[in-house]
Amino acid sequence: LKVTMTDVEGATQTFDDVEEGMSLMELGKLHGVAGIMGDCGGGCACATCHVYVAEDWFAKVGEPDDIEFAMLDMVADVMKDNSRLGCQIKMSPELDGIEVTVAPASS
Ligand code: FES
Repeated sequence: LKVTMTDVEGATQTFDDVEEGMSLMELGKLHGVAGIMGDCGGGCACATCHVYVAEDWFAKVGEPDDIEFAMLDMVADVMKDNSRLGCQIKMSPELDGIEVTVAPASS
């Protein structure tokens, strides 16, 4: 499966062989994508895997659930309508080709 990720410094990378079930946080960490930390290990408890999902893809990914939304609210200064936590987006065939941009850290 294919994922295009733009890091926090503006560099874009495309990954072609992403396995189904891998989260975007895991993918970003694996490849050292700048700005993806995943401090809590994917537990929806740190928001250091925050990404903005490209408009065209947001409907497929869907809205964050209440727990994720509460976490995003902790980084409200950099939150946007298309914000999601990368650890909560698991790759599936429907998401093949998804494009995301890593969000800057909350100040
Ligand atoms: Fe901590 Fe996603 S890795 S919230």
